[in-house]
Amino acid sequence: MATQSTGTAAAAGPDWWPDAGRATHATVDLDAIRGNLDVVRRAVGPVRVIAVVKANAYGHGAVMVAETAVAAGATMLAVATVDEGIELRDAGIEAPVLVLGPAGQSESGDAIRHRLTLTLAATEQIDAIATAATSAGVRADVQVKVDTGMRRYGAAPGDVVDLCRRIDAAGAVRLTGVFTHFADADGPDLGFTADQIDRFQSVVDALHDAGIDPGLVHCSNTAGTVRLSVPGQRVVRLGIGLYGLRPDDTVPLPDGMRPALTLRTRVAQVRTLAPGDTVSYGRTYTATGPENVALLPIGYADGLRRGLSGKGWVAIAGQRAPIRGRVCMDQTVVACPGTDVASGDPVVVFGDGTGPGPTLADVATLTGTINYEIVTGISHRVPRWYLREGRPVAVLRGSRLVRL
Ligand SMILES: Cc1ncc(COP(=O)(O)O)c(C=O)c1O
Repeated sequence: MATQSTGTAAAAGPDWWPDAGRATHATVDLDAIRGNLDVVRRAVGPVRVIAVVKANAYGHGAVMVAETAVAAGATMLAVATVDEGIELRDAGIEAPVLVLGPAGQSESGDAIRHRLTLTLAATEQIDAIATAATSAGVRADVQVKVDTGMRRYGAAPGDVVDLCRRIDAAGAVRLTGVFTHFADADGPDLGFTADQIDRFQSVVDALHDAGIDPGLVHCSNTAGTVRLSVPGQRVVRLGIGLYGLRPDDTVPLPDGMRPALTLRTRVAQVRTLAPGDTVSYGRTYTATGPENVALLPIGYADGLRRGLSGKGWVAIAGQRAPIRGRVCMDQTVVACPGTDVASGDPVVVFGDGTGPGPTLADVATLTGTINYEIVTGISHRVPRWYLREGRPVAVLRGSRLVRL
């Protein structure tokens, strides 16, 4: 089989493959990220978008995705932890950053010095933030999360007016938003989500009645954004949809949205099994006749789930290549789909579904999980190559981002 051209000067587009660095890599199409955000802003809205870039931008690499989202018009970025926010600031990103999750008291100072907006859910949190803000000589922006049914982080609806009054009275702290999170917006029955919206709307009304400006009011994640029209909603939090992935197999995305990430590698070695040979740890696969297999330099430490052992597949030269035996930490063996597979041949491990390689959804189904877990599980040792107009513009190796 002819090995595909590998030079960085090779054809632009989906056929571009790097000629440097590790064979196992991901490509992230920044035009897809930009396009997905655009589609949501126009087709669902007009709405403003908070781009959710937590968990390393759902495995895509936080800095390049955040930059792209801001350039495409995102109003704000959202992360889960203070450290994730600091990573964005260290990369020179100036856009507002909301920390969605609970921050420890000891993190308040760092968060405030980096101008991160913290999320509050209880009055006890106000003092630490006010003290840190006063000692930094700045005013800390905060948003309040309302628990309307998720039973995770959040203030009880009945406590929100009092919480916001105390924030106002704390002096060095400013309320810039109020939000909630849906528990079941990707489920078959939207009744619970409708109840959450009602509860949230009552809280927002109560704040207005109390003369408190709630700032940015937002509740919809991707599923809520594409499935529900929330009266008066002008801001949404877009996570999985930003990456062109569905929140659930049953929830289609609007036309024009597409996956940004493909995980790829190259054949490292081809060998022929003799009848009776067994493959990999535990010897779970036995060749019944002579069989050509290809060794791939990718394993579960890269994010190729061990649960795919003996049941997943990859694509080599446009054809399915089933996984033989167990996925190891760094290596995996697959059946050769033809007789002419050679070392160096390109392999799609999972991708955008345009070829015979599995999609993230296929991998999630095979391993009994969701695409969120698969994509956030691509490890730091997999280089991410960023493409614009099919050409590489940057590569992320570990935590080192190199612009090309
Ligand atoms: C508070 C909050 N908002 C928004 C999101 C984005 O959700 P999705 O990726 O389903 O769009 C998440 C993700 O878990 C979240 O925790």
